[in-house]
Amino acid sequence: MPVSDLDPGRQSEGIGRRTFLKRGAAMGAGAGALSMLAASSASAASSTTLSQGDAAILQFLAAAEILETDLWDQYDELGGLNGGNPAYIAALSNLDSDQPAYISGNARDERSHAAFLNAYLAAHGAQPVNLEPFRTLPGSQATGAKKNRLRLTNLLSDDVDTSWYLRYRSPLNPDFGATFGQAVTITNQPVVPLNDSDTPPHMKQPVPPVTAQQERMQAIANSASFHFAMIEQGGSSLYATLAEQVSSLEVLRIVTSIGGTEVDHFGVWQDVAANAVEPPLSGVTDPETGTTFPNLDASGQNSTRANNIFPKPCEFIDPSLPHCSVVRPTLSQNGGAMAALTFLTSTGLFKGQSSAFFSAAEQLAQAADAAVRTV
Ligand SMILES: [Fe+2]
Ligand SMILES: [Fe+2]
Repeated sequence: MPVSDLDPGRQSEGIGRRTFLKRGAAMGAGAGALSMLAASSASAASSTTLSQGDAAILQFLAAAEILETDLWDQYDELGGLNGGNPAYIAALSNLDSDQPAYISGNARDERSHAAFLNAYLAAHGAQPVNLEPFRTLPGSQATGAKKNRLRLTNLLSDDVDTSWYLRYRSPLNPDFGATFGQAVTITNQPVVPLNDSDTPPHMKQPVPPVTAQQERMQAIANSASFHFAMIEQGGSSLYATLAEQVSSLEVLRIVTSIGGTEVDHFGVWQDVAANAVEPPLSGVTDPETGTTFPNLDASGQNSTRANNIFPKPCEFIDPSLPHCSVVRPTLSQNGGAMAALTFLTSTGLFKGQSSAFFSAAEQLAQAADAAVRTV
């Protein structure tokens, strides 16, 4: 059965989330081939339906959703409800027994976002986005992956940004210049199993891991969980930021309604990823990359406490106003289309992509950022 037909929640097996560990408790763009979008910035939208700015915003978001779909599909093939790599699934489930269901649900949602946005664009006289010409990257060769399918995104060696963990536990806001370090340093790290010799697909995954290969697989799964949250917090900021530039009320409804689900996804992944940095899973070290997951819960401080997963009230609009629990950042220079593209590129998500890909992505991002609310 296609995963898209599943209700992940109902397919979940085993103990519920949170029970196992019993704790107290965004985007890149990419145009279609330039030729496919040649008219996008000037005349893609029907003047009677979509403004130029609204079309540009939806086109960038469509590209972002296609890229999201590509990476979530890779995770889903290996670690979702119908995922094909038992050891990866076991390692993901060590973080939260519902994680395979969440992965399939997140992948389903991204497919729906991409399909809806492109269909809406087409229905309103604007050019949909097609990234298929850029499907050139190799993917995982591990059991479960569609080995011959080329990818748009790279999950084989990533610099997973984990600063969101500190940012969302801080009263400071990047929109006022705050910067944050890495909660966990994850560089050149696979976030999916690479192949079966590196991580045998049928090995057990005890907690804590015992063998080097088990530790490798657990580190890959832990890194993936941080990556999930990294992607979805980026989407949360991106949608909230671009919503400020939308003109049509209907397009605003689309942007805020899809954006809300990105926030929902982020919240769940916040919770899941935190399980990697508290006992019994903290302390895992990837024997190949050296990525180590510290016990961030040990200090008991709110700035790192694992179950402090809701957005801490922070400065917003005016620092003299009371702190407010909000998505952050939401200024264009920090959370807009170019910011998302630059950020995702810096994490290696597009490593191996062509210069044509980056040129097209920048063109779409700049057009979206240039959109100005006209009503
Ligand atoms: Fe999405
Ligand atoms: Fe998303």
